[in-house]
Amino acid sequence: MSNLQETSVSLVAVDDDPTSLDLIAATVEQDGLQVLTATDPRKGLDLILKRRPQIVICDLMMPGMTGMEMLSEIVRVDPVTDVLLLTAHYSTESAVEAIQKGASDYLTKPLDTRKLRSRVDELIQNVRRRMTVRHVDSELLQHYQFRGMIGRSVRMLEVFARIQRIAPHYRTVLLTGPTGSGKELVARALHDSSPVSSGPFVPCNMGAVPENLVESELFGHVKGSFTGATQDKAGMFELANGGTILLDEIGEMPLATQAKLLRVVQQQDVQRVGATRPRKIDIRIIAATHRDLRTMVGEKTFREDLFFRLGLLDVKLPSLAERKEDIPLLTRYFVQHFSKLYNKPFTGVTRKAEMALGNHAWPGNVRELEGVIASAALMGEPPLIDLPDLPLSCGQTGSSSTSTGSGESELLLSLEQMDVLHAHRVLRHFGGDKVRAAESLGISRATLYRLLSKSPSVALE
Ligand SMILES: Nc1ncnc2c1ncn2[C@@H]1O[C@H](COP(=O)(O)OP(=O)(O)OP(=O)(O)O)[C@@H](O)[C@H]1O
Ligand SMILES: [Mg+2]
Repeated sequence: MSNLQETSVSLVAVDDDPTSLDLIAATVEQDGLQVLTATDPRKGLDLILKRRPQIVICDLMMPGMTGMEMLSEIVRVDPVTDVLLLTAHYSTESAVEAIQKGASDYLTKPLDTRKLRSRVDELIQNVRRRMTVRHVDSELLQHYQFRGMIGRSVRMLEVFARIQRIAPHYRTVLLTGPTGSGKELVARALHDSSPVSSGPFVPCNMGAVPENLVESELFGHVKGSFTGATQDKAGMFELANGGTILLDEIGEMPLATQAKLLRVVQQQDVQRVGATRPRKIDIRIIAATHRDLRTMVGEKTFREDLFFRLGLLDVKLPSLAERKEDIPLLTRYFVQHFSKLYNKPFTGVTRKAEMALGNHAWPGNVRELEGVIASAALMGEPPLIDLPDLPLSCGQTGSSSTSTGSGESELLLSLEQMDVLHAHRVLRHFGGDKVRAAESLGISRATLYRLLSKSPSVALE
């Protein structure tokens, strides 16, 4: 990545305590990084406005101007600047406020120099990625992976940076984005980058749980609390204790359950159905949805107070159509993946296939692209995936290949694998509309969710 290293980056550090400032400067110092310092916050701000560094490190409590004020001023002028705040008095509330105002991170004093150095290294890498546009090659594919997610578009680099910002501090996060855009991957990345990464990560899909069982599923129950409750059972929240729970499809949560969830969010305790007392828990909550919760609040199908609490920090995922520049990279990634999986040595896609992939509307987003490449790799013959191999339903392509090889590959799938593959195909046909897909398949939405929770690649393993 010689190109990346040549790009020079500058950093301004502001702290009224000269000893602390020297320590910061010594900690971050490295080749290719220009470091400027100021002990006076006003002079620091002037320096920042004049030199426009990509990274600022700033003490929170300074005479004459607080770090928060400086942060607001910097973000107003250049929202892309990465600002690291330092404080002697950490609290989750002030960390959340700093991140909402646009800070990149919030570190405590006395300084953990190793932590500071590694955060600055990450930020420098991000800056260099933003500044460099290079031809897509396999080396780059590695470079543009972030915790299992692929992306080089500005929108995705922003998502990666935001995950890094939020992960150390969040108690609740709201993930929004259309179906198949990668919300579950983001949730895992948030958990894996959080201080509770060694604790459990418990995904729980509200759409897949029958409405009458939601509360017992989430909160647990005591023996005899309802017909069928033959023994005490811990709910998902308790299982996620010490870690993270992902409340997927939060828009499907019944209103009565929303009220109980609010209590968990506010008080960090849960009461099993039929229990007389709550139990204390310590969890982080990630809520995800493809629906517009604000509209649901207007329609009174989602509680406003819960929406407010969950949405204090959010991550918005763009649709694939909004980041078409990622399609070649994702294609390359999936081609490599399925080549290995099927043991068919594909090296890429033909020019025509690449153009068709670039022109498709991708209503099912990355999941749809993954399914298309899975199916094409199954149908096609190495070394290149060609246009007729692509099952795109928008007319620019022929129908799926009928070469004998493809038929044989499909013949080797088990019935269950076919079910999964078929569910993905039907969903794709309906542009990601799960209600219509379930109707057309003649199965319940819960069953569809179960099938879709297996990615097409799992189906074909
Ligand atoms: N940036 C990415 N890089 C690589 N793979 C991705 C990326 N985004 C999504 N995927 C893959 O696409 C598929 C769908 O992603 P995911 O399940 O996270 O979507 P989702 O937003 O949760 O969708 P839904 O709303 O339907 O639940 C998964 O198989 C995932 O691995
Ligand atoms: Mg999901």
